[in-house]
Amino acid sequence: MTDDPLVIFTPSGRRGRVPAGTAVLEAARRLGVDLDSVCGGRGICSRCQVSPGIGRFDKHGITVAQDALSPWNAVEARYREKRGLAAGRRLGCQARVMADVVVDVPAESLRHPQIVRKRVEAREIRLDPAVTLRYVEVERPDMHAPSGDLERLKAALRDQWGVEAVADLRIMQRLQSVLRAGDWAVTVALHAPGEGAARIVEVWPGFRAAPVWGAAVDIGSTTIACHLANLATGEIEASAGAMNPQIRFGEDLMSRVSWAMMNPGGAAEMTTAVRDALAGLLASTAAEAGAAPEDVLELVVVCNPVMHHLFLGIDPAELGWAPFALASSDAVEVAAEALGLGVHPGARVHLLPCIAGHVGADAAAVALSEAPHRSEDLVLVVDVGTNAEILLGDRRRVLACSSPTGPAFEGAQISSGQRAAAGAIERVRIDPATKACRFRVIGQEVWSDEPGFDASAVTGICGSGIIEAVAEMRLAGVVDADGVIGSADAVGSARCVADGRVWAYVLHEGEDRVVSVTQGDVRAIQLAKAALTAGARLLMDRMGVERVDRVVLAGAFGAHISPLHALILGMIPDCSVEKVTSAGNAAGTGARIALLDRGARAEIAEVVRRIEKVETAVEPRFQEHFVEAMAIPHKTRGYPELSRVAALPEVNFGEGEGRRRRRRA
Ligand code: FES
Repeated sequence: MTDDPLVIFTPSGRRGRVPAGTAVLEAARRLGVDLDSVCGGRGICSRCQVSPGIGRFDKHGITVAQDALSPWNAVEARYREKRGLAAGRRLGCQARVMADVVVDVPAESLRHPQIVRKRVEAREIRLDPAVTLRYVEVERPDMHAPSGDLERLKAALRDQWGVEAVADLRIMQRLQSVLRAGDWAVTVALHAPGEGAARIVEVWPGFRAAPVWGAAVDIGSTTIACHLANLATGEIEASAGAMNPQIRFGEDLMSRVSWAMMNPGGAAEMTTAVRDALAGLLASTAAEAGAAPEDVLELVVVCNPVMHHLFLGIDPAELGWAPFALASSDAVEVAAEALGLGVHPGARVHLLPCIAGHVGADAAAVALSEAPHRSEDLVLVVDVGTNAEILLGDRRRVLACSSPTGPAFEGAQISSGQRAAAGAIERVRIDPATKACRFRVIGQEVWSDEPGFDASAVTGICGSGIIEAVAEMRLAGVVDADGVIGSADAVGSARCVADGRVWAYVLHEGEDRVVSVTQGDVRAIQLAKAALTAGARLLMDRMGVERVDRVVLAGAFGAHISPLHALILGMIPDCSVEKVTSAGNAAGTGARIALLDRGARAEIAEVVRRIEKVETAVEPRFQEHFVEAMAIPHKTRGYPELSRVAALPEVNFGEGEGRRRRRRA
């Protein structure tokens, strides 16, 4: 037993004895508490703030005296006077341990605080970004011991932070003036994605308090989303989305590949379009966060293989035919400057690895977010979009494929379809007895049959709305298992109206707008969902299973799909409805994880190497599964779990309905 004072850190509970006079920051280091510091203990950054507890602590069996920590010193007093320090707080680098003490470390003072996501099953995100700031004091030049300013900066980083660093010509060109402007003290932004020396991204004179920013970007075939994160706190401070301007060259991926092949310069045009759109999003998110685009020092981008190639300026022609060879399947890191994104000239862009020629970095990001490789039970993860990414697996084995669902799920190719924006019908209920319908639109709290509903605000139907509408039509006996809409007579409802030789179901009849579900709409949804289910079935075949334990619906749009309606429609294999959950934008979350935790990049590279890829385009059984999955919910597979919660009526309007009408005419 020594006389050294005992230090107990809360909430971690780490405890141990240190010699009297040891700074709290040093004590934290010795006891394995990650107390933060950017200035290296010079009393400038205030990242090391702690709150000492005074009084009796029965739980720990100690009494802490008023003078357990050293009195305020001049550095702390100056800091409090100039920048303010909350009551009870001390600077851990200045306050010294004099007697037994309990020290509380607030979450914001931890170097790697855990950010816990709200969903229960989701993983925690560790904050360990590739870009960090370090404050260093550099020795002045000495004629008698000549060495370069850069070499003395590197030596200071090595001595004060234990970091080996390298710098490029841009830094060398700036360094001398910055060192002198800061009176030989500078803040350095270091980029250290993993092993090896860190790269100096920027140097600023003196201590820089302003945050550095990183962007998590998800480039989808239809939309681009950009989330700007403060790399010191991990918080997303601004988000923005835009339509992918490549749509004008082709709605789906293959038509864009064809455009590139048929039109000289077509690929380059699409490259410019997507980069310009991203530059615009970076500028607008930076402005929203009160920063400049040049303050963005790192980007993580996830996208499918065609978007990946076009974004990087690689001709996607090889992705248009078997064997769908990728130019590079590993993670890619490039200088942002080469892509013309308008961010900091030293910023890097990290693209997650692609899984296969049709299964991209977006699927890798979904795997990172939903972690099927850590799951005890067999999970099917479906990222619903224009191109669906599908993962099936558990701790032992993970399979992946992608399936071309087309844009119907996003409201495109639907007669009254629109994007999920104000005025779009998003929820639908049809009374099985009367066949009357009620609905809810985005932007209004009340349902269409409730007081206060504004019918004039209805503008169309979005993806989740059309899925619910078709599923409800099936549940109410308005549409049969083959997807045929019944006639007014057969259904017994005036809502079924003739539409040429077939029938349509009217959801809403306003003064200037009619929103109905046409036979063509039902077919478009059947084709999209059959592609999705066929992909999932292929993976189940390969895994040798007939059922899955749970299903995760991912994608910005996947979050809005009701699990019950997804099952009725047969978008997913039969599964207990409570076991179908939504993950929100999992690809975007994966990008955010990779941005905030460089360790996650190594993890996903490892997982991607283990994932078994299935190419739907060349699998002979895909077509067979596709045809069977056209029925609602399915032609040959029973849906016993679904039938426990919903009874689908045995109606058959047959192809004959149209023929009968023709005969009558
Ligand atoms: S470590 Fe920077 S103020 Fe204490």
